[in-house]
Amino acid sequence: MDESGVMPDNHVRIFDTTLRDGEQSPGASLTSAEKIEIARHLARLGVDVIEAGFPAASPDDLEGVRRVATEVGTPDGPIICGLARATQNDIDKAWEAIKDAAKPRIHTFLATSDIHMKHKLRMTREQVVEKTREMVSYAKSFCDDVEFSPEDGCRSDPDFLVEVLGVAIAAGATTLNIPDTVGYITPAEYFELMQKLIRETPGGDGVIWSVHCHDDLGMATANTLAGLMAGARQAEVTINGIGERAGNTSLEEVVMALRTRPTIYNLATNIDATQLTRTSRIVSNYTGMVVQPNKAIVGANAFSHEAGIHQDGVLKHQSTYEIMTPESVGLSQSSLVLGKHSGRHAFRVRLEELGYEMNDEELNHAFNRFKDLADKKKTVTDADIEAVIADEFFGPEEVFRMEGIQVACGQMGMPTATIKLCGPDGKEYIDAAIGTGPIDATYQAINKIVQMPNTLVEFRVAAITEGIDALGEVTVRIRRDANGKRTFGGHGADTDIIVASAKAYLAALNKLLAYTGYEGHEPEGGSATIRIGAAS
Ligand code: KIV
Ligand code: ZN
Repeated sequence: MDESGVMPDNHVRIFDTTLRDGEQSPGASLTSAEKIEIARHLARLGVDVIEAGFPAASPDDLEGVRRVATEVGTPDGPIICGLARATQNDIDKAWEAIKDAAKPRIHTFLATSDIHMKHKLRMTREQVVEKTREMVSYAKSFCDDVEFSPEDGCRSDPDFLVEVLGVAIAAGATTLNIPDTVGYITPAEYFELMQKLIRETPGGDGVIWSVHCHDDLGMATANTLAGLMAGARQAEVTINGIGERAGNTSLEEVVMALRTRPTIYNLATNIDATQLTRTSRIVSNYTGMVVQPNKAIVGANAFSHEAGIHQDGVLKHQSTYEIMTPESVGLSQSSLVLGKHSGRHAFRVRLEELGYEMNDEELNHAFNRFKDLADKKKTVTDADIEAVIADEFFGPEEVFRMEGIQVACGQMGMPTATIKLCGPDGKEYIDAAIGTGPIDATYQAINKIVQMPNTLVEFRVAAITEGIDALGEVTVRIRRDANGKRTFGGHGADTDIIVASAKAYLAALNKLLAYTGYEGHEPEGGSATIRIGAAS
């Protein structure tokens, strides 16, 4: 940006929609605390816009966006955007949620493809044009910065798009986003479409054009880059490419493609790429969406070389098989060696460097957890610290809290687990169960206390760092009933994998309980059972 605040022509604005389109991934629902924390990391990463949610979806969503707007939308922070359908009610809610941000944006959308207009909206082209004019003007009456998206734009008649977008610009839209809502278009087609829209739309030379792609055919990143080559200067992306169905374009792929091939694109972003690995990890932890090992840029294998010929080449010269260095995306092996003699000050400094702001009480708490870990593990890495912080501070509301766990297992007897939980009424509940293995026994014992029927649909264990003393990270996903659509993810980290498994399951159950509502009852007789309101 120059002194007058004008962006250079080759600046690509990164519009991050992890908290909106990303959160629409099945099972990725986030608590408010998790949203704020992700938003803070996105701001630190250097994104230009955070689409913080869809405020009209529920009072919870509105509150989540409002908190991001007030806590992260500072004058030197990113633009905070709220999504709204093209209705007065949605726009009112979006404005209510973002109005306290220093730089608010309303993003309103209306479908323009014949399929959507006929079967979903039941509106004619004329009605869609009129609604666009009306609702963009309405949004503009609150906020200078208005973005308009013709939903399913890539399956819309291009000439009709020119008409609708011209009306949106005349009504005050300053960013025009062309979504490939269903992940259908190819790079060559998108390039041509974007060029036509930019060239032919009245007023098109005075606005920012934006690209928004879904990955149903695995072409989201290629399409996004094609749109940028055609003249778009905003890319709508998510961390790890999470999002509806097959997901959205991944932020890290676009940013690193622009960086690694400057002579092809000649485009730049404000992103601090050394924050990519960390941000990816945090989003994966909080959403419970595990990153596939071979995922470009942030997958566990993205920089590992298995074949002997490759290893030999990289040892002789990194550039033989690496087009980017691991350090350039923040994959340094940086570790903080803390043990009995390490101080609180060094720990606080490292936390600040990692982007965590904590008050004294939180710091004490984190430091104690850290010391426990340093006692069990020789080296504590940044990844370990992040896992512990996520585990300790940004979990869901704790309806049930784990107080203790004891497990017996092996070949000689039945795996047995005893669990002690603190319930929503503040009382302690203890129960025990046997199972097919120690984790099954643990989950059965938790179920006996919590009494919330559910189906476990995913269970994953990963070691955060290498070595026998590694911190184990468990991610689970549960569904309230076998046919239910909504899933609830939980995450737990501990050097003891059974403890991590119990924490992850309890975190997912707590999210489910917070969603369905709960009320505690006295346990019956001496047995440690409790009934939850909506559980039957
Ligand atoms: O994919 C899509 O069409 C969207 C719009 C709301 C921009 O997410
Ligand atoms: Zn989308």
